[in-house]
Amino acid sequence: MAADERNRPRLSAFLLLLISAALAFSASFFSKRLLGNDGRFALIGRRSLTKIREVDSGAPFKSFRSSLPQRPRRFYLPCIVILIVIRLEILQEVVYDFQCTAQGVEVFLPVFLAGYELMFGKRAPLPISDEPEDPWITIREEFTQWVKTSQLWLFSSVLVFTIGVYQSAGLAYGSSYFCSPVLDEPRWIVVLQWAGVSLDAVVLVMSWRVLSWAKTTKSRLHILSGILAISCLGSGVLWIGTRIAQQGPILDRQAVQYVDPLYMFDILSTGLVLGVLLIAAMLWIVESVPLEPTSIIAYIGGTASTVRQVFLLGTYQQTSAGPPLVALFTIMGGFSIFAYANNMRSVVYIRRGFLVLLMVVLLIAALITSAVRNRPVQHHPLDEFIYKNRVESDRWLRHASVSTTLRTAVEEYKERHHGRDPPARFDRWFDFSRQRNAAIVDMYDQMEKDILPFWGMSPQKVREAIEKAKGLPDIGVVTIIRGKASHNEPADPSHQMILDDMVSIISTFSEHLPEMSIPINLNERPRVLVPQSDIHRLMQAATAPKSKFLPMMNKRDKGKPEVVEDQAASNIEVRSDSEKGSYVSVEDFHHLQSLACPPGSKTRAGVSWNARDLCASCADPHAQGVFVRSWRKALDPCHQPDVFHLHDFYTMPYRSELHQELLPIFSRSKTDIFNDIIIPLLRPNVKHEQETTTFDDKTNALFWQDEPLTEIMTHQSFHGGQRSRLVYLTNNASATDEGPLLIGSNYGKDLKFAYEMVKTSEANDLFTIKTSFTAPETCKDQACWMAQKQFGFVEPPNDPEEKPDVAVDHRYVMLLDGPDGPPPNLLAALRSNGVPFLSSIFREWYTERLMPWTHFVPVDLRFHDLHSTLAYFVGLKDRGRVNGRERDTMADRTEDARWIAEQGRKWAEKVIRREDIEIYLFRLLLEWGRLIQDDRDNMGFVLLKQG
Ligand SMILES: *[C@@H]1O[C@H](CO)[C@@H](O)[C@H](O)[C@H]1NC(C)=O
Repeated sequence: MAADERNRPRLSAFLLLLISAALAFSASFFSKRLLGNDGRFALIGRRSLTKIREVDSGAPFKSFRSSLPQRPRRFYLPCIVILIVIRLEILQEVVYDFQCTAQGVEVFLPVFLAGYELMFGKRAPLPISDEPEDPWITIREEFTQWVKTSQLWLFSSVLVFTIGVYQSAGLAYGSSYFCSPVLDEPRWIVVLQWAGVSLDAVVLVMSWRVLSWAKTTKSRLHILSGILAISCLGSGVLWIGTRIAQQGPILDRQAVQYVDPLYMFDILSTGLVLGVLLIAAMLWIVESVPLEPTSIIAYIGGTASTVRQVFLLGTYQQTSAGPPLVALFTIMGGFSIFAYANNMRSVVYIRRGFLVLLMVVLLIAALITSAVRNRPVQHHPLDEFIYKNRVESDRWLRHASVSTTLRTAVEEYKERHHGRDPPARFDRWFDFSRQRNAAIVDMYDQMEKDILPFWGMSPQKVREAIEKAKGLPDIGVVTIIRGKASHNEPADPSHQMILDDMVSIISTFSEHLPEMSIPINLNERPRVLVPQSDIHRLMQAATAPKSKFLPMMNKRDKGKPEVVEDQAASNIEVRSDSEKGSYVSVEDFHHLQSLACPPGSKTRAGVSWNARDLCASCADPHAQGVFVRSWRKALDPCHQPDVFHLHDFYTMPYRSELHQELLPIFSRSKTDIFNDIIIPLLRPNVKHEQETTTFDDKTNALFWQDEPLTEIMTHQSFHGGQRSRLVYLTNNASATDEGPLLIGSNYGKDLKFAYEMVKTSEANDLFTIKTSFTAPETCKDQACWMAQKQFGFVEPPNDPEEKPDVAVDHRYVMLLDGPDGPPPNLLAALRSNGVPFLSSIFREWYTERLMPWTHFVPVDLRFHDLHSTLAYFVGLKDRGRVNGRERDTMADRTEDARWIAEQGRKWAEKVIRREDIEIYLFRLLLEWGRLIQDDRDNMGFVLLKQG
């Protein structure tokens, strides 16, 4: 597990500090315009400062307490710098193992600051009235007086509302990215977190004292920028120091890669935001005490998150009303007392009394909301999904096989392909497909989507791109000359097998093909990832009406800049890959993917860094509750940046090269945003024909088994890879891990369903789930030992021919992707009379033909739906207690399971046969053969008019 992964944050810290220092320094030139400017300060002198503040009603955060702290000591400045550097190191350590952190430790910062006030703070006397002391002062007033002046009140009120905020932070729901008790040190991480918060408090107090005693805003900004600049130096020295200690070159190839424009842009924008925040925070705290801003921020954040939790009631994310309401109550109560104890007349321009009133209203609203929202539902969502998808798959098949004659096929083709004529010899293809009883004649959306961008390039450019692709490593070339297919004899025997098979398939129809050559990707991973802006431009060029033929359209488009084919193609910036070498780091891979997503999408907007918590908003667009509603959407990474932590494809460095330029490379599989052209390729070493048992003879269990791939495992893929997460979740869940389970219970006479939070280990015990890694032949490196300790290996099956994960004896077969591509045994599982539980990010040529909930059961990559899905099919009757109660009313749905198993098998035998591969390939190559011809616009297949 590469130590190098840890160096980048140091560089980032260095750059961030540098930018904020520069910003603070430049801000000092505008200090006159900033809040708390220094004019009166210099004139009147420091002694009467407190008075001035009281008078100055313009100050937004007014309190009657003296804000001027004790004088700072000389050693404070260097101390601050050293502490900042240490703090950054701690931060880096904590972020690296973020999955092990405790939720919400950071909110205790105000408590530390209140503790400081309690010990050292001087309370200013209340404004003294001129009248002599009233002997008849009432007890109530005395009490108020006492509350106002007692530091203990202040401290306890802060403690109370902070506990509330902490509780609400704990309501966030953990992801399946796990903290390993073997590899990580969870306790140590939590200790570091606490150390970090206390350091924050110390740095804040020290800086506050230093900055408050500076005379002018200008000099404060100078001090701030000085502190930042020296800390920046400090972390820079540390960065170089560690590089030398690791005996690596200070700027190796990877370090140079960091300086790519994407990274720079990120750092620059983050640095600017950070700088502005720091300056604002500084201006705020010198006007008051550090306790005030931190408390207000914690309060606002806590309230917002609790209110959100209240609104989530009734969904799987918040299953009971108690915890958020208690948290809300604690925050409100604590903060109200704090507002009095701290003597704040107003909180960010809101009067104190009004604020308390607001809080009471909010509490009542929350109570009502929770009563309304927290209701069980009448139907299980899967009832509806299964029914709807049954209807949908019938509709899909009708839509996919409209044409019964060549004439309708041609019309359908034009309708579905932007008015383009079908390629020449389309009639031969049509006959060919009819001879082979093709069920699907018209539906080739994936093919069209893959090929369309190339219509935006000129044929000349496409041919050049083919030549370029042919020269790349691990590319096999199939050439068709005078109706004969041949390949370029690669050295690797398994590559040879793939191409042999391809040539033999093509030979069944090659006499109808024009001359061409196709570069085939022999690696498992796809290779072409073009930025979305380029693809968008090419697509526009490809679908733009040709002016010659359609003058009307042209007129309408006059306002727009004209997209001419050739220009569009030559405008594409070609980013040369050669200097990048054949290795793309995980971070760069994420960046390139975010560029391939459309602007405004969540993935484009930024990288998600929090792997610890479930990103429910990432799953929501394709889910209903925990279940996958739209599987096709679930395949799109652009709305779910969190998957970058959750799949080996994303968490392992890219070991083959990646092209940002649109190259025609034909690959077996790809994720949604890649631009390879999907082609059916043989999988060597996978048996497709399988002895299989009937559904009823299989065990009522979920099964998954495979070898661990420890030699390529990284820190991230150990914790977040789909395979390790599944094995951890179902075998090793810790005592604190829990998840939602949709449970049916009787409410009166009716069976209704509601989510309940259930301990993951308890949920595992409800079902028979067999997931495991098999022992590899040798286990010699550290990663393998760690994996063995964490997951425990089982003996592999004796017969080496028997693929362990084709679990023919189990009713429910879990199918997970490998690190580079889709599950190799998907087809076998479809044909096996079992129910495939498929969790995948990849598409293959037949992916569009599969219907979720009809031919297989989709499982979210986050696995938070796994137990609920299993519970639906297997039922909870006689399966033991859940949360202390028997749930016998939730019967099994074995009938549905058997039906899906049957549908999957029948469908695979109907539309994913070898004949279907031939048909798909024939059509693809006709398209391709036309695309590379200069005269491609005029050489379509046109049916002669009858009569
Ligand atoms: C995880 O579970 C497996 C299988 O039950 C077991 O062999 C292994 O020791 C467990 N790991 C830990 C760390 O408890």
